[in-house]
Amino acid sequence: MPKLSNTVEEALNHQINQEMSGAYNYLAMASFFEGQNLSGFAKWMHRQRAEELDHAMRLFRYLIDRGGQIDLAAVEKPRIDYKSVREVFDTALAYEQNNTKLINDLYALALNENDYATQSHLQWFVDEQVEEEKIVQDVLGLLDVAGDNNSALLVLNRQLAEQEDSGGA
Ligand code: FEO
Repeated sequence: MPKLSNTVEEALNHQINQEMSGAYNYLAMASFFEGQNLSGFAKWMHRQRAEELDHAMRLFRYLIDRGGQIDLAAVEKPRIDYKSVREVFDTALAYEQNNTKLINDLYALALNENDYATQSHLQWFVDEQVEEEKIVQDVLGLLDVAGDNNSALLVLNRQLAEQEDSGGA
């Protein structure tokens, strides 16, 4: 197996930071919902936080397995000043869309460097991002239906609380 190129190694380290930043952002979003007593929404965000941590660890493990050097960077302070449920999920969607772009860029880099093992590892992330964007869009669709109706929002909160981990994250 050829050694990881410095460029791919650096890009994988950067993506670990991105996933950790995602985990921290979802934790901040969970705290917003905890503060609003919307425990179902908070649980949904905690599931996402755990997912992002898992994504970071997959990349971490892969780098180690390929004999790469881990270079952990500081994780940026997450946004906490949300004004509405909708704004939180809009922000989550923007995060996932940007993450899809970063994963695609990373895949293109591995392709360009003829790094087949990294391409294969990243394929899981390419597929995962389809699911990640979809589940946020699903909640946004339900928020559209709920509109300004607080009772509908509470029903949605209960539904999210009851979602299984595999379905909601
Ligand atoms: Fe690691 Fe939500 O993508």
